[in-house]
Amino acid sequence: MTESMMIVTTLEELFHARRLLDGPLGLVPTMGYLHDGHISLVEQAKSECQSVIATIFVNPTQFGPSEDLSKYPRNLERDLHLLEAAGVDLVWLPTPEVMYPAGYQTWVDVETLTKPLEGAMRPGHFRGVTTIVAKLFNATRPDKAYFGQKDAQQAAVIRQMTRDLSYPLEIVICPTLREADGLAMSSRNSYLSLEQRQAATVLYRALSAAKKAFDGGEKDAEQLRQIVKDVIASEPLAQLQYVSCADYDALTELETVSGKALLSLVVFVGKTRLIDNLILA
Ligand code: PAJ
Repeated sequence: MTESMMIVTTLEELFHARRLLDGPLGLVPTMGYLHDGHISLVEQAKSECQSVIATIFVNPTQFGPSEDLSKYPRNLERDLHLLEAAGVDLVWLPTPEVMYPAGYQTWVDVETLTKPLEGAMRPGHFRGVTTIVAKLFNATRPDKAYFGQKDAQQAAVIRQMTRDLSYPLEIVICPTLREADGLAMSSRNSYLSLEQRQAATVLYRALSAAKKAFDGGEKDAEQLRQIVKDVIASEPLAQLQYVSCADYDALTELETVSGKALLSLVVFVGKTRLIDNLILA
């Protein structure tokens, strides 16, 4: 535990500050514009680790050419206050030049788990995510790293990468924090108008309707996907991009739900792309 929160940018500063921290060390990687979902990861890390590092970096390599990199929301001052209040010991704010200096040419690619779902919709996205997360692991050398169930495929891909590359650390997946009306907290919710924000509750309503059917005995995956489609179709401002009912570990589409499954969907509300999921077990 240090007196007050340290804030660093360069690798040299990070390595110096890292040496001052007592273990075990928890890492919470973020892209900033923090909300209670991010802070819940910090709180879990605090409860399990002696020291906590948070990172804020809007990673350009995980955004597609037509995605929202340039307008991704930012509020550094507020983020730093929230992290300090949550008891973070060290914040690393690398610049793109620190992470991807001129001549950069090394990538981490998880081959199979990145093919379906978000990987199919966002080519190159997970290559950017795994590359930056590997670099964050290498530079900070945590004992535990914290990720949200909200990005279920990202969590699965990072767990796979951690196994495959023999990182000596534990991946902890934390539950999705939601607003009172069920909308999963997300930095991208700030893009929504009042009317769109209201419409966005349809994601959780759709997932919940399918989960209720599942809990009531419906095990046919196509029926469960259809329930999601019908609820989304009832909201004129919402456009379904995909709904998936997949094996929890392999992320392959199911015909029948027999073991643990992941029910996930992506919906556009206006131009904002919203993602959510529930576990069926
Ligand atoms: P970002 O979208 O900022 O999310 C940072 C972490 O917070 C991720 O692990 C994400 O799953 C988690 N999170 C987001 N919303 C949450 C919610 N409502 N409840 C619980 N956890 C939530 O995900 C990324 O950044 C990036 O891809 C990153 C891993 C930092 C690599 O660049």
